[in-house]
Amino acid sequence: METDASRRSSRFNFRIRKPQGMLVRIFERLSPYRKRMAVGVVMMLIGQLLRLLFPLITREVVNNVIPNRDFALMWRLGGLLMGLTVVRLFLLYNRGMLFERVSQDTIYQLRTDLYAKLQSQSHSFYDTHRIGEIMSRMTGDLEGVRNFIMNFCQTMCEQAFMFIGALIFMGSISWLLTAVTLAAAVPLSVFAYFFNKKIRPAHAAVREQNAVLNTRTQENIAGVRVVKAFAREPYESAQFEKDNQKVRNLHMNATHIWSNFNPVMDFLSSLAVPMLLLCGGWLVERGTLDLGSLIAATGYVWVLVNPLRMLANFVNVYAQGLSSAEKLFYYLDLGTTVKDPPEIEEPPVRLGHVKLDNVTFAYREQVVLRDVSLEAKPGETVAIMGATGSGKTTLVYLLARFYDIRSGSVMVDGVDVRKQRLHDLRRSIGFVMQDTFLFSDSIRENVAFGQPGLDMDAVESAARIAQAYGFIEKLPQGWETVVGERGLGLSGGQKQRVSIARALAYDPKILVLDDATSAVDMETEADIQQGLASRNHQSTTFIIAHRISSVIHADQIIVLDDGRVAERGTHTELLEKKGLYHQMFMDQVKDFAQIGGVSAAPAADRVKGA
Ligand SMILES: Nc1ncnc2c1ncn2[C@@H]1O[C@H](COP(=O)(O)OP(=O)(O)OP(=O)(O)O)[C@@H](O)[C@H]1O
Ligand SMILES: [Mg+2]
Repeated sequence: METDASRRSSRFNFRIRKPQGMLVRIFERLSPYRKRMAVGVVMMLIGQLLRLLFPLITREVVNNVIPNRDFALMWRLGGLLMGLTVVRLFLLYNRGMLFERVSQDTIYQLRTDLYAKLQSQSHSFYDTHRIGEIMSRMTGDLEGVRNFIMNFCQTMCEQAFMFIGALIFMGSISWLLTAVTLAAAVPLSVFAYFFNKKIRPAHAAVREQNAVLNTRTQENIAGVRVVKAFAREPYESAQFEKDNQKVRNLHMNATHIWSNFNPVMDFLSSLAVPMLLLCGGWLVERGTLDLGSLIAATGYVWVLVNPLRMLANFVNVYAQGLSSAEKLFYYLDLGTTVKDPPEIEEPPVRLGHVKLDNVTFAYREQVVLRDVSLEAKPGETVAIMGATGSGKTTLVYLLARFYDIRSGSVMVDGVDVRKQRLHDLRRSIGFVMQDTFLFSDSIRENVAFGQPGLDMDAVESAARIAQAYGFIEKLPQGWETVVGERGLGLSGGQKQRVSIARALAYDPKILVLDDATSAVDMETEADIQQGLASRNHQSTTFIIAHRISSVIHADQIIVLDDGRVAERGTHTELLEKKGLYHQMFMDQVKDFAQIGGVSAAPAADRVKGA
């Protein structure tokens, strides 16, 4: 059986692609900074070259200063050593700063691109990707890539140079000693290869599980009130515990692999010193090598072996970096289904004329709207009714092209929405979504969200129409009241009214009210409708509602039934049809009549004339 946790974790099944491909892509990202990197590399090369000179100075001391008691030479060499150290430190400090800047700038750009990508994604992307996972990409995986750039690109490049430099310098002293030292490297390299094979999937698993844990944390914190209302804290805690344990175990698994390999790696690399001393001692004994050269050679052993010893560490960072890069590039590579067309056709004038022709739409496989046609002339009010799940919200989403339709056409102001610039199209529509979402910002900022910098008069007048003015003014901090996440601290009806004000504030040509007054009492709703009707500029308005009272004055009412237009007409026409609308009407009147203790028929007659 598919468990909750496995369902959450199965969302992201990244195919491990060729690592070379990822490397190339990371380097492409670094290419704008190549000049800075080149300066950093030159500084690093000179700095490390100086380091390679140190053993040669030691050789001079052993061979010339000590036997000849040449203290003048000793002072000169000591001064040289000091000078070289200062220059070296200066160069290495600057190369560190340069590389850090490069890595930070690269991540900054990656983060910017990722965010832009996320913003450009259509609704269907957010239907299938979880916020917690996205957050993991934006934090942990970006850090993984940064670490990769710093440790892999900088440190490994440096170590590779040191290795080659040490080979040459040590080789100039004795090729035999160099060969002996390198002999220790062969098993070390083989070992690092196997280590890489084991550690890479282990790191990928850690990151995956981290994303799952983030998702769970994010969902449960966001839904903490539901969890508490259903007293599900113990269950959710247990689920969290499971995911948390998995993260720990996967981390431990990676650490185990690391810890098992590392001592062997240390052992193999430290073999070089006794081997060198044995061989070097033998050469000195035979007189083919002077003592100073042997001591200098020991000064190179670690320079030679260290890069090999660190190989395991590089492999580790490399694996982590690539698995993070893989996930980031997965996002960056995503296409957007809903995007601006190559050739944009703008309506000559935006008036809010909407026309749907035989529109059929499906969420992936599930067909939700079939052959829907409707026309709303500028300034008209169209009400959409229908049972829950009949496709009302989906229908209005299509006006703003949140999704692309399967067949038919959606025209706004005479131009197919697929030909229009998305930004301009959406700017002409004021949406009051079914799920009210407010930002954790002041009420004033929330109302002015659609048009930052909107003057206070416009903000207040929108709030007046939305019947929000009164309650906002009464709040202790008034317009500056900061609402919590998603509008916490306001009642459901207050949130809806702020959300209506937000849609009205920038005077949209088309206004969509999706169940926008469901949490508002009928009297306030009537006031809102009156406010809307009294505006100077009339938007074409789509009202989705379940209450007959919300739609009674609409120019046309469309009744959807399982994605099809079942009925259309005015309130009076639809009542005469005695179809679905009439049925809804009678049901609602019956409810009122029952509450009032009168018979349904006369009550219905009274309302019919409204
Ligand atoms: N993002 C989505 N992905 C897949 N299916 C969806 C999605 N949103 C809605 N649906 C499905 O499409 C159908 C119509 O949904 P829609 O939200 O348009 O209904 P509605 O008429 O607005 O209902 P309600 O009155 O409850 O708001 C439903 O069967 C729903 O399950
Ligand atoms: Mg809906």
